[in-house]
Amino acid sequence: MRYSDDIIEEVRMKNDIVDVISQYVKLTRKGSSYFGLCPFHNEKTPSFSVTPSKQMYYCFGCGAGGNVFTFVMEYENFSFGEALSHLAQRAGVQLPKMEYSKEAREKAERKATLLEINKQAAQYFYYQLRREGGRTAYAYLTDRGLSEETIKKFGLGYSDKYSDDLYKFLKAKGYSDELLRESGLFNVDERHGMYDKFWNRVIFPIMDVNNRVIGFGGRVMGDGKPKYLNSPETKIFDKSRNLYGLNVARTTRKNFLILCEGYMDVISMHQAGFTNAVASLGTALTSGHASLLKRYTQEVLLLYDSDEAGVKAALRGIPILREAGVNSRVVNLRPYKDPDEFIKNMGPEAFEERLGQAMDSFMFRVSVAESEFPMEEPQGQNRFFERCAQMLLELEDELERNLYIEAIVKQYRRYSISNEDLRKRVNTLAMKGTRAERRVQPKSGSPETKKRETAAEKSQKLMLTWLVTYPGIFETVEKYITPSDFVVPLYREVAGMLFEQRKEGEMNPAKLLNAFTDSEEQREVASLFNATIHLETKEEQDRAFADALLRIKEESLAERNRNWDPTDMAALQDLVKSKKDLEELGRKRQELHISFE
Ligand code: GTP
Ligand code: MN
Repeated sequence: MRYSDDIIEEVRMKNDIVDVISQYVKLTRKGSSYFGLCPFHNEKTPSFSVTPSKQMYYCFGCGAGGNVFTFVMEYENFSFGEALSHLAQRAGVQLPKMEYSKEAREKAERKATLLEINKQAAQYFYYQLRREGGRTAYAYLTDRGLSEETIKKFGLGYSDKYSDDLYKFLKAKGYSDELLRESGLFNVDERHGMYDKFWNRVIFPIMDVNNRVIGFGGRVMGDGKPKYLNSPETKIFDKSRNLYGLNVARTTRKNFLILCEGYMDVISMHQAGFTNAVASLGTALTSGHASLLKRYTQEVLLLYDSDEAGVKAALRGIPILREAGVNSRVVNLRPYKDPDEFIKNMGPEAFEERLGQAMDSFMFRVSVAESEFPMEEPQGQNRFFERCAQMLLELEDELERNLYIEAIVKQYRRYSISNEDLRKRVNTLAMKGTRAERRVQPKSGSPETKKRETAAEKSQKLMLTWLVTYPGIFETVEKYITPSDFVVPLYREVAGMLFEQRKEGEMNPAKLLNAFTDSEEQREVASLFNATIHLETKEEQDRAFADALLRIKEESLAERNRNWDPTDMAALQDLVKSKKDLEELGRKRQELHISFE
């Protein structure tokens, strides 16, 4: 199910990158490039460049970069296929009908139909809210402070008091029972057959980042149980990979996102002007959510309810976010229960102020620990600082650890502990190899291992980027490197394809990208061709090239060393020879001249 390279290339060529990006970003010419404010991070002076000769863009601030497909994928959050069809349409190119396999076609059609059903249902609910029978529901929403504009913006609706009208409505449109059942909008039992799941509730349609309705939440008007009824997970609704409100929040391009618990919280924050708020869908935060958030921001403010459950949820969420590379802070809304209540009582300015006072997530954990010990007794204080030391030990970066030691000492000066005291305690604990430390060590996602991984990964990425950007260096590279030297499996696959293309005469990264159908993979492969470091002079280029090449070889060798089967003598000889070759290469690195043009 792939388009031909020719058609991809045709679409790319017919969409000049400057024209396309100008539709989204105001660009000004400077020499041979254009510059503007980067749409992918928050900035005041333009560091986002578009170069017509290369048909590529690159941001010197945040490192975003790519070709016209990448831009549309990133900006619109499209998959490669979606970006291709968008750009084809823009340039008036007719895409050929795709050759799907029968199963793939059926699966795609099913998904499309489910989306259609959801959309029809959303329209139906929306319409019900505005009819005579929906008056109570409409009043419920306005009584809770929502404006007509807000109700419209979130497409809120009402499922009326009949338990089969949605079913009849959709049935009349010709959908089969089987599909309707799969939509999650209906319950089935032997006595009643199929009937509407949502009954006399206000309805919150849930949209994915591309504004497609994928499910619903329905709230009772009043105190009935359950308070909320939500669509079950379906082929188009994965609760652990979608966040309520992200379709709007992602376009705000603020430098943080707000994460809260409920539909109403998101809506009242948006209404008060905080349009960067999102909520997880009645489930705890997952790593899927975290990596989704990571796509749009570096920092998340946690606004969980001000009760024990909310604190627990924050404590659970912090490491999940950290693992995904997202910083978090915790906002205190006391004495109010949640953002909705806070804003209603205190107004947007006071809310903004609270956001500004958000607590560093590590210090939040420390303060929770404090509340767990009887701090009026020396015993309690002692145990509290012991707990602090354990947490500090989790931080492997020494600078970071020292900063937090100072912060804790400053905050709890009333217990007259000094930097020295606390540091000593951390060291003692480290030496003891306590349980806490052992618990930390196997964690693959600790900052230390991440950093090392990233250095090796970065070299491999850089090399792949250089190969597609400056095909002239291939001759030198292939003398030393084969695809198997790329130790990250995805990179190895991509390198293999590049080497293959090179053998066949012409490299075409756009074509290569099309071999990956999963949008996550496409995103990552696109990033492989856009790794960047800023290199001014010829010397810098040579040095960077030699560094990357040597690091790739070192990693590759280390990997083989790890996987070496001690009974395999031939492999051992091979390893020894590779080691010698690498040393040799290190010695003559001055000779590794390449030209980046
Ligand atoms: P309001 O009471 O209308 O202000 O709603 P809220 O958003 O403040 O709700 P709350 O903080 O009680 O719950 C947060 C989120 O958890 C909701 O938005 C729902 O997604 C989910 N939730 C709450 N109650 C239920 C329930 O009874 N069943 C299910 N499945 N989910 C619920
Ligand atoms: Mn609420």
